[in-house]
Amino acid sequence: MGSKLHIVILAAGIGKRMKSSLPKVLHELAGRPMLSHVLESARALQPYRICVVIGHGGEQVIERFCTNDLIWIKQEPQLGTGHALLQALPELDEDGATLVLYGDVPLVRTGTLSKLVQEGSEEKCAILTTELENPYGYGRIIRNEDTRAIACIVEQKDATETQRSVNEINTGIMYIPNRKLHAWLPKLKNDNAQKEYYLTDLIKMAVDENVPILSAQPDHNWEILGVNSRAQMAELERIYQKENAGRLLEDGVTLYDPSRIDIRGRLECGNDVEIDVNCLFEGHVKLGNRVKIKANCVLKNVTVADGTTIHPFSHIENSAIGTNCRIGPYSRIRPDTNLNDNVHIGNFVEIKQSVIAEGSKVNHLSYIGDTVMGSNVNVGAGTITCNYDGAYKHQTIIEDDVFIGSDTQLVAPVKISRGTTIGAGSTITKDTPENELTLSRTRQVTLTGWKRPSKHK
Ligand code: UD1
Ligand code: CA
Repeated sequence: MGSKLHIVILAAGIGKRMKSSLPKVLHELAGRPMLSHVLESARALQPYRICVVIGHGGEQVIERFCTNDLIWIKQEPQLGTGHALLQALPELDEDGATLVLYGDVPLVRTGTLSKLVQEGSEEKCAILTTELENPYGYGRIIRNEDTRAIACIVEQKDATETQRSVNEINTGIMYIPNRKLHAWLPKLKNDNAQKEYYLTDLIKMAVDENVPILSAQPDHNWEILGVNSRAQMAELERIYQKENAGRLLEDGVTLYDPSRIDIRGRLECGNDVEIDVNCLFEGHVKLGNRVKIKANCVLKNVTVADGTTIHPFSHIENSAIGTNCRIGPYSRIRPDTNLNDNVHIGNFVEIKQSVIAEGSKVNHLSYIGDTVMGSNVNVGAGTITCNYDGAYKHQTIIEDDVFIGSDTQLVAPVKISRGTTIGAGSTITKDTPENELTLSRTRQVTLTGWKRPSKHK
């Protein structure tokens, strides 16, 4: 180490096999672009500079990552990996060294990269290599038979039969002193099977100049897998999810089936959390101690406090849920909702942008929107807050200890005062007085002797 660490991420490839109008590195793994995963591992090394080489659709890539710690470099046309790095050369200070990463190899870990960087130095090159049972398609590492020193890298398409039988492959990730890059890159030629400027040909130049070439291996072989097709994308997604699930199990979380959980973001869990099958966590989700998430729930940017159970098929977004709550089955909790402790939200209930205080219950078939609800309120089945007049949203206030009979409409803006009882089937348009029964209902009548119509014989 010691010298300025530069990182160049090659991401100009078209990704033809994805059959997509989206640049390949913008395709999402675990809910964010592949390139964002590579950047995360790269940034963790605290490099001096990060360059990203982009090509076709590059503007879309820049737009997606509007940060100012990256130097974007356009490569057009795309004439190979060596040509790609050549475009970045003006950004590579002579007194540094460069770690080359690929934008379509998203699972590589910081630990593996720092091992490689430690191997290299201002006078040495280092290549991340590994042995694959099936090395087809990769560049092969050819070593000197006696010394086992790396002699060159041969691409699949240029390799002889004997060279193809070598299992040690070039992952593409390498670390090279910048002074050497300035000397070697302009000398690359494209006299090979693909008529491309191969980055891998630098290795021959290093050998010719007696620059030592060291190698390091990734901690796991899946770290170096690249994405060229949707099938490979799906494969990597499963690897990523399996790794995440494994870490949760290690941390003491119960997963009913570790292969049926998806985390697209960050999931933090307290002690003795249980997660049943087919749950999806997006953004940042934080689960307190003894929280139970039953089957088929989707939680996005949610905090759930201790002892709460989310029953099956609930969908919760941008909300906070207190301790010992009971949510679902089939509850939908929309953004900016805040449920206090011991709140019960039942089946087919939708809550939007509302605050509900301790111990209140909305158990069946209701819509509560733009509402501030007090504690110990009981909302009967089929209650609707009519919060929208077609132009504006209005607030409903329901104070402590209110009891709302079933099938009630609360036409906002309206305040249901403390201790109010609302008779079932009411349409409430005016504020109610405290501790009284309020209802709006036509009187029930019976027409004696009335006959139902029937068809003529
Ligand atoms: C490359 C290596 C090969 C290695 C393999 C590992 C070379 C010549 N070959 O082969 O030894 O085993 O990766 O996966 O380096 N890219 C550009 N501009 C270009 C061409 C490529 O930015 O002009 C980028 C691609 O977007 C991609 C990366 O470089 O991120 C690798 O390109 P790819 O065409 O996949 O290289 P391979 O032929 O697979
Ligand atoms: Ca490739």
